[in-house]
Amino acid sequence: MKTLSHRRPATLDRFWFGAAYYPEHWDAATREHDADRMAAAGFNMVRLGEFAWDRLEPLPGQFDFGLFDETIARLGDRGIRTMFCTPTAAPPVGLSRRHPEILRVNENGVTFEHGSRQHACHASPVFREHSRRITQALADHFRDNPHVVAWQTDNEFHCHFSECHCANCQTAFQDFLRQKYSGDIAALNAAWGTAFWALTYRDFAEIRTPKRDKPTFANPAAQLDYYRYLSAAVTEFQHDQIEILRAANPRWFVTHNGLFGHIDYRGKFTQDLDILGYDCYPMFATDVVWRPANHAFGVNYARAWSGNFIIPEQQSGPGGQAPYFQDHPEPGELRKFTYVSIARGADSLLYFRWRTCRSGAEEYWCGILDHDNVPRRRYAEVKQIGAELRELGPQLRGTHVHVDTAIASADHEVEDAHSTLPFGLPSPQAVAAKIHEAFWRRNYAVGFIHPTDDLAGVKLYVIPHWATFDPGWVPALEKFVRGGGTLVIGARTATRDMHNNVVAETIPGCLRDLAGVTVAEYSRINLPKQRPRHLVLAGKKMLAEHWCEILEPAAGTTTLAKWSGRHLTGTAAVTVRQLGQGRVVYVGTYLTEALVPALVKLSGLKPLWPVPAGVEVVRRQDARKQLWFFINHNDRPAKFKSPAGKPVTLQPNDVLIHATKL
Ligand code: GAL
Ligand code: ZN
Repeated sequence: MKTLSHRRPATLDRFWFGAAYYPEHWDAATREHDADRMAAAGFNMVRLGEFAWDRLEPLPGQFDFGLFDETIARLGDRGIRTMFCTPTAAPPVGLSRRHPEILRVNENGVTFEHGSRQHACHASPVFREHSRRITQALADHFRDNPHVVAWQTDNEFHCHFSECHCANCQTAFQDFLRQKYSGDIAALNAAWGTAFWALTYRDFAEIRTPKRDKPTFANPAAQLDYYRYLSAAVTEFQHDQIEILRAANPRWFVTHNGLFGHIDYRGKFTQDLDILGYDCYPMFATDVVWRPANHAFGVNYARAWSGNFIIPEQQSGPGGQAPYFQDHPEPGELRKFTYVSIARGADSLLYFRWRTCRSGAEEYWCGILDHDNVPRRRYAEVKQIGAELRELGPQLRGTHVHVDTAIASADHEVEDAHSTLPFGLPSPQAVAAKIHEAFWRRNYAVGFIHPTDDLAGVKLYVIPHWATFDPGWVPALEKFVRGGGTLVIGARTATRDMHNNVVAETIPGCLRDLAGVTVAEYSRINLPKQRPRHLVLAGKKMLAEHWCEILEPAAGTTTLAKWSGRHLTGTAAVTVRQLGQGRVVYVGTYLTEALVPALVKLSGLKPLWPVPAGVEVVRRQDARKQLWFFINHNDRPAKFKSPAGKPVTLQPNDVLIHATKL
């Protein structure tokens, strides 16, 4: 098993650069100059085929690879390799008509119609058989084609829709539970706490997927197991395809383009891949102040699951679908997006897409070229990047992103468990995003790390309200603290077990010894205006958000902040326990930006490099060198000193990459 770690560089032999390409959308005359223009832009890869099943198999069992063979050969002649895709995100209409049982069913019992994409159930034995069949046909056909070097499985599993409640899913969910609870229905009843509301099952066959059409709320433990089932089902579906691809040609590298809900990208799903993919669309953040923070969040989050990643789709123009049309990236903005992604761990990058399509639901999702096939400034910018990557690409290989400020993330179960009982509170991931932004704006080397991952080099580690918490994670956290780290635990952490039930111990459950604190009382803050509760930290008052806990520090634990407001006044709100070289901070409320200065002080953090506000700094490194990325998000030039001590003036949207030897 490979170690999936945020510090893992990609194992690819070069930086792959190119675009998603859809020759099936165009006639030969329009395609004529594509390969030359791509080569001139420095492309060495295109991605093909993910929605082309009906072109590849026009009639059941009759394959036609002609268009793709010709395209792959043309591109190959110019040194451009192909990543082919299994086309299972868009099965052909004939399959839906002959086998309506493959269609997914939503939580209201509505069966999806053929007509867009992602309408087939991953657990359907019939659909899985056809998925294996088309994958086998493609693998057999391309196994000896020297230009095909990589595969993408399907396309964005769970992007539009992740649940399914079809007939297949009923038996598949029962089988999943049978396996999980070793066929012991009593074990399931205990795990789900079915004594409550007479939910006791006598047989696995009595269980149904948790639809939302009950009189009132469902069992949270059952709901979490259902989300785990969805992850397992899509993982098996993908595994079918990967097995076939690996057997056909073990030299191919295999990826998938995420990241979406109800998939455990730290588990077998990603173990099966060579590299995880992340589709990056910064313009969905229409707020220009938030956009760069959100982009950094997205790529940092992508890296947290398994390390450096590939971007199979990087936005290359404004996007438009029925409900929205985004801003056109300004001059330099595509290049800036590209380098933000690379700085934060993209080890290869393809744009979405080569040319804007003229029909279909995405006929306004702009690619590098416009509808009229005229290369304009977006093409020129991509060409510039292609030229720059010739030099930069080899330098990036083997480097990882430096992080000293980390936030716990990359756990779909924690997030899914929250969604079963949200109480109107922000999810752990939503808080992680806010805290991330606070550190990002101050230019700390911030990233996301799962508690089971490598915390080497990390000074501050924040766990934002992970109610569901595995006691097995505690020893590594203790080691981190004893070694000098500052661990910050947000309220409600470790209050629920892995079945999604409340823990038996006094909270914070398995963390109470490490934190040196227990929680005597907790409350939702529903009336912050009428009944404000403030933290008083170093004489400063800050309004608490969402939640408050009265803390009881154990002997040796000190109180960093006290409560002010209602009957909480004078009780402990934030505590610190010194342990070894480090300390554990327990925060009895929701984490906010206002706490950041205190956390920085305790942990001794320093910003990565002194730059003016609005300039982003990131560092990639290996044992021999450091690659610094300076990115100007301001509308005006920014002046600062480079790590070589030289004065730099960086224009708006411009990027400076600076290498230093170690
Ligand atoms: C991605 C998807 C692409 C395209 C793009 C623009 O999510 O993989 O096929 O739909 O978004 O909307
Ligand atoms: Zn289903």
